[in-house]
Formats: sequence, C-alpha cells, structure tokens
Amino acid sequence: MDPDPHVVVVGVGYVGLTAAACLSSLGRRVTAVDVDEARIVRLNSGEIPIFELGLDRLVLDGLHSGRLRFAATYDACSEADIVLLCLPTPTTATGELDLSYVEAALDSLRPTLRSGAIVACKSTVPVGSQRRFTGYLDRPDISVAANPEFLREGRAVADFLEPDRVVIGVDDENVGRRLAGVYHGVDAPIQITDPTSAELIKYAANTYLAAKLSFVNEISRLCDDVGADVSEVVAGLASDHRIGPSFLTPGPGWGGSCFPKDTRGLAAAARAAGHDLPLVEATAASNEIHFDHLVSRILQLCPDIGQRVAVWGATFKAGTDDVRDSPALAIIDRLRRRGVDTVVFDPVAATAGIPPPVADDLYSTCIDADILVVLTEWPEFAEADMHKVAQLLRSPTVYDSRGIISSRAAARAGLTLHRSGRPLRRLDDATESRWS
Ligand code: UGA
Repeated sequence: MDPDPHVVVVGVGYVGLTAAACLSSLGRRVTAVDVDEARIVRLNSGEIPIFELGLDRLVLDGLHSGRLRFAATYDACSEADIVLLCLPTPTTATGELDLSYVEAALDSLRPTLRSGAIVACKSTVPVGSQRRFTGYLDRPDISVAANPEFLREGRAVADFLEPDRVVIGVDDENVGRRLAGVYHGVDAPIQITDPTSAELIKYAANTYLAAKLSFVNEISRLCDDVGADVSEVVAGLASDHRIGPSFLTPGPGWGGSCFPKDTRGLAAAARAAGHDLPLVEATAASNEIHFDHLVSRILQLCPDIGQRVAVWGATFKAGTDDVRDSPALAIIDRLRRRGVDTVVFDPVAATAGIPPPVADDLYSTCIDADILVVLTEWPEFAEADMHKVAQLLRSPTVYDSRGIISSRAAARAGLTLHRSGRPLRRLDDATESRWS
C-alpha cells in the first residue's frame, strides 16, 4: 500500500467533488481536475457549485490544509498514483450510455500517466466497460479498475465516509489492495472482486432498490382500492428482518439521475446477453403506472378540468436541487397534458428546471387553488401553517403523496387530507406516527 498516494479525481460533479473533498479529509493528497475552467476557478476560491450537505466545509478545509487542489488541466496526472474517473455518462437518444466523456479523459491520461498508476472508474458504466477502457487506454503498464459509487444525493458526504461497502473490481488482487488503501479511514468493509461483477453490483443494487419501491407503491395502490392502510402493511412487512424497513416508504414514484437510467441499463445489458429480465423490465413499467395512478387520484379529488392544482415540490426527493427524472415533474406534466392548470413551488430547485408558472413561496402557490398536492418531502412542507393553507385554498383539500403532512394539523385547520394508500378514516394520530 502506498503510504501517501497522490489521488487525482477527474470530474467535479457531485460524485467527484464529494470523493475529492472526503478523501482529502481522510488525509489523502488530492487534485481534482475538470475541463470546466470557470468551475475550477470558483472552487479554488472556495465557491461550491452544488448543493450537498457538509460538502462546503470539507472543500474549504481541504483547500486550507493544502491537501485538496483544483486544476483545469491534466498536468497533475503525471504525478498520480491513483486516478478516479467521476465523469458523466448521460443516456443518448437511442438509450445507450454516452461514454465519450470517459474516453476523452482516457485520451488525455494516455500520454500523461506514469507507469504503475491505477485508473479506477467511479462513473456508472455498462457492464464490460473496464475491459473496454483497458483496451481503449492501451497502456499495459496501467491497471484499470471498476470502483462503483453508491452515494445518495443529499447524503453524499455521509455515504462516502460511512458507506455499507466499498466495491473494487480488478484483474489483479495487488492492484485491488493498492486501490483499497485510498479508502483507508472509511468505515466499511471492502469487497475486492473481478471488474465485471463490480460493474454489475452497481446496476443490481440500484435496480433492487427501485424494485422495492415499485413493489411498495403497488401495495399502496392496492390499499387505495381495497381500503387497507399501507402504513400498517409496511409496518408488518418491515418487522420481518429478511425484508427490513429501508426503502419501503411509498411516494409519488421513484426518479433521479440514477434509478431510471440504471434499471434501463440493466435491462439493456441482459438483452445484449440474449436474456430478458422480466422483473427488471416490470420495475420501470410499474413506476410509470404509479405516476398515472397518482394523476387519476388527483383528478378524482379535483374533477373539473380547468381547475387549479397547487404543487409543493419539484426535486426528485428532498435534500437536493436535482429535478432530473423527477416524479414531481412527471406528474405535473401528466396533469398539464390533461388540461389541468398547475402552479409549483420548490424551496431549492432552480426555477429554470421547473415548467412555469412557479410560485415564490409555499403559501402563494395555494392562492385560489382547488387542491394542494405534495410531491417532495421537504421538511418545510411538513412544518407549514395549515391554517394559512386552508385560508388560501379555494377548496380545503390536500393530497400528500409523501405522507409528511400531519393529519392532526390538517384536521385542526379544517382540511381534508388524502394520502397515498391510506383511507381517510385511518388518519388519526396513532397511524400518523408510522412514517416518523
Ligand atoms: C441512488 C442510490 O440510492 C445510491 O445508492 C446510488 O449511489 C445513486 O442512486 C447513484 O447511482 O448515483 P439517489 O438517486 O441519490 O441515490 O436517490 P435515492 O435516495 O436512492 O432516492 C431515489 C428515489 O426513490 C427518489 O425519487 C426518492 O424519493 C425515492 N424513494 C426513496 C422513495 O420514494 N421511498 C423511499 O423509501 C426511498
């Protein structure tokens, strides 16, 4: 193990910046490289371009201690022991992943890297990419590794420093041990395996979690039909230790930059290998059905076309400013296509990412609306003044897809609170505590 490896992180998006800042906080020497010069200038002056809890302090500490540097050129790579590729792999119009950013980085690294360096890919890439990148780099004296990342947006720092596991996929175990040394101080077991298995672990983990959510959302839909209470059903499921409580909170459907892309990616990998994976295909299809179900429920509660729906939440979950593949936007889009007038408020999402009209604050969204629909679980929504909401709404109806609004507060304000998978008669204080 190198006692003090020089780590170069390529790409300062949320994965790269988090990795760079966290590794410097663990005592590594880190240079983070990005071709976006403006971003590098801002980072070197201590300006953090993304919204991620605790990240700003780690970046400032790293800059201050001198263990973290930002650079707009690949010069630092000539000194690198380990290079972590944290580049975007967007989906193309044909549904494949665009690996051009990774390949462009490999082009820049090829003439620069010193012999014996390790290039580890943290970006989510198709199964088989480590082999492809090894061939593409064409430097037999450099090892290429798969090192998938399991960070959640909004909890990236905590997830990096205390993950459930670190997965390293390598052809040579000694290389795996050297790469594992970079994570010295991270509180987690390290699994060293072959590259293809490492790449598949990432897809399988995200798809499994998405399947869990599609399943609980299906149960929630059934509860709506048969009059059961999904919070009771989930409490009974979660107490079986083989099932467990995580990732079982019903919501408006799942989204974000990873689950939709990775479920599609796993299905595509299977098809390319000559197999269909029906459970994987159904996971995504079920999520689309869930969006339609929510729209039907909202329209049932607000039947006249031309009415106004106030929406709280645009990001794909709380704790992030990200609206990519957001369930909220999918539902707003479906409502608008059905001729419903919607007005949206989100406390963090950039207005540019939300289809207008966008309200300035959570209360003005409600003015003259016929129903308030909660689509993201921001804490300020749970803490909102329900009396004020009741005064502003034209009709005292709230649909809470996240189960965060207090039934007691809503009842006191004279509001009728509808929640996914929960009959009105069960909205008492006892059942309210199920999600807390
Ligand atoms: C996800 C994975 O959780 C990370 O492990 C992975 O590293 C990351 O993708 C990635 O591949 O980069 P993230 O996209 O940040 O992380 O979002 P999650 O917190 O997993 O939430 C995904 C979606 O599921 C959101 O729309 C969220 O609202 C929804 N969700 C989550 C629920 O509806 N209910 C739950 O109980 C949990």
